[in-house]
Amino acid sequence: MSIRKILITSALPYANGPIHLGHLLEYIQTDIWSRFQKARGHECYYVCADDAHGTPIMLKAQQQGISPEQMIAQTKIEHMADFADFAIAFDNYHSTHSEENRFFAEQIYQRLNAAGHIKRKIISQLYDPQKEMFLPDRFVKGDCPKCGALDQNGDSCDVCGATYSPTEVKNPRSVVSGATPVLKDSEHYFFDLPAFSQMLQDWTRSGALQDEMANKLQEWFKDGLQMWDISRDAPYFGFEIPGAPGKFFYVWLDAPIGYLASFKNLCKKTGIDFDSFWAVDSTAEVYHFIGKDIIYFHSLFWPAMLEGAGYRKPNAIFAHGFVTVNGAKMSKSRGTFIKARTYLDNLDPEYLRYYFASKLSSSITDLDLNLEDFTQKVNADLVGKVVNIASRCAGFISKRFDGKLSASLAEPELFNDFIYAGDSIAQSYEQREFAKAIRDIMALADKANQYIDAKAPWVLVKDETKQQEAHAVCSMGLNLFRVLMHYLKPVLPKMAADSEAFLNTELQWSNYQAPLLDHAINPFKALMQRVDPVKVQAMVTASQENLQPTATATTTDKAVSTATDKTPVPAAREPISDTISIDDFVKIDLRVALIVAASAVEGADKLVQLTLDIGAGETRQVFAGIKAAYSPQSLVGRQTVMVANLAPRKMRFGLSEGMVLAAGPGGSDIFLLSPDDGATPGMRVK
Ligand code: MSP
Ligand code: ZN
Repeated sequence: MSIRKILITSALPYANGPIHLGHLLEYIQTDIWSRFQKARGHECYYVCADDAHGTPIMLKAQQQGISPEQMIAQTKIEHMADFADFAIAFDNYHSTHSEENRFFAEQIYQRLNAAGHIKRKIISQLYDPQKEMFLPDRFVKGDCPKCGALDQNGDSCDVCGATYSPTEVKNPRSVVSGATPVLKDSEHYFFDLPAFSQMLQDWTRSGALQDEMANKLQEWFKDGLQMWDISRDAPYFGFEIPGAPGKFFYVWLDAPIGYLASFKNLCKKTGIDFDSFWAVDSTAEVYHFIGKDIIYFHSLFWPAMLEGAGYRKPNAIFAHGFVTVNGAKMSKSRGTFIKARTYLDNLDPEYLRYYFASKLSSSITDLDLNLEDFTQKVNADLVGKVVNIASRCAGFISKRFDGKLSASLAEPELFNDFIYAGDSIAQSYEQREFAKAIRDIMALADKANQYIDAKAPWVLVKDETKQQEAHAVCSMGLNLFRVLMHYLKPVLPKMAADSEAFLNTELQWSNYQAPLLDHAINPFKALMQRVDPVKVQAMVTASQENLQPTATATTTDKAVSTATDKTPVPAAREPISDTISIDDFVKIDLRVALIVAASAVEGADKLVQLTLDIGAGETRQVFAGIKAAYSPQSLVGRQTVMVANLAPRKMRFGLSEGMVLAAGPGGSDIFLLSPDDGATPGMRVK
């Protein structure tokens, strides 16, 4: 087998929030793959960094009264501690706010500029006159220009699903200061992405992308690629563009360059040859693991930037789906937005590594962390099957056979079956079909347990004439256990290390095929505790307690093609509106309404269609943007409050005859109002 040179990355987490279980899917997936490659003897490096630039980070630091440098330094310490405790074994963890990253960002920009790939254009954008800054889309709120729904995001409406430009929003306000934004001109720098269209289409078809991704890209190519705005005006936390005072690189320009920077930083420390990985003629392999929300950046902008600046492109981008918890998007109100630290305070990190591995494939479908299934699966597989093999055999070896395994194998054929399975398990790891690898390993664990059940060493040891057989059976059991732990080692590094101590051997691909014979082992200690459901519940409860005061904007710097709901930036409470008179208020006719039917709306992810009983035999149909927070079934039979005299609105899906009342910033954090017990449909609310 020839030794491959492999560089692996995970996406760089933003430096303005904690690592949560959604992130961990990616770092665990990448770490398993990286550990597997290293175990196979390849020269493999796994690097990452914090993504430290951008408006949300700048504003959050301001809010905390510290400098952005202080904030990102603190966050980096927390991120690194979380990763270390989940056994994510980076070879280097750096920051995009680093010397190396500034160097490469400037170099790549200058090379692109010299090649004529940077254009300048004056554009008009919303500007906060009070805060004196341009507003990213997500920092503008206002009424939907299509359906009129109040208080919607600057780029999309949760009620009707429309997307639009923030300049179209009615009654816009700045999320930062509450001021009314004004339009202001500014010169921006653009990267000429369309110039790379042909190259990107070829690259897309070269096998660098999963099929689902390649198909998505075809749609983007059909729509035509656009020039990419890579500059932002001061004030901005980032790198100033060379030769352009007051203009900064947009965070997404220097974020992927952070992969180069982190690797360069590693090279400086260790003497690895950077160019042998990144020069155009490099024969090393480069892979980026990412979530499906950032495909656009990694499969279009990034390869085009590399190509335009004279670097090689990655061999492949490996995208994964999103984590949901108990079937729904992670939600703070339900306690399913679980931070890495909250998990670690309650549960063993290897449970999660195993659970994710047991469900991961090479596709980009979402992955549900069902907490009951999690408990059940870890207990059944790891404790009930794998550890069980060792615990049933180890005691006899220590107590009766001097802590030594027998000199020959009882069942060489069964052992060989376990060894032969290695090729296909390795192939599954290589192809990122971890779920398949785990299924195959667990099938072997079942076989091992069946063998021990059939031989019943606990019966044999009682018969003086069968001591040798008992010794052989227990030794066989531990040899099978050793092969299984060897296969599981990329997933469960801690349990594997404890097993190595117990078996007094290293688990390696270079030696696993030879059984341990006449070999002294150490006393057995419990290798894994059962998952305690009480602790799982404690983790959920602690996550609910972690609830921050309601934020008014969900912000990221990913506003390219889709708006994603991400870490809220705690902003000031939404300002109280202008004073109205009681006469104004009584114009609004609020009624108690009973939800008699609720269903999803085809073509509108966020909407639920409600049928409301408002008394006197009258029903109303209302479309409400609450799907992320409530499943339709859970709504039927409950009472709420509706605006009964709102002018009906024609929507794409039908007529909406009113509005139900709810609080919260949106997304999955929406809280429907309910009257106290005793209210009946049609009662007026005043
Ligand atoms: N900073 C950018 C990435 C820059 S890479 C040059 C970013 N940061 S992030 O913190 O929002 O996300 C980091 C990674 O975690 C991304 O790949 C993202 O897709 C992934 N995930 C974040 N939440 C996730 C889930 N709920 N589920 C699965 N992965 C998720 O994007
Ligand atoms: Zn709308």
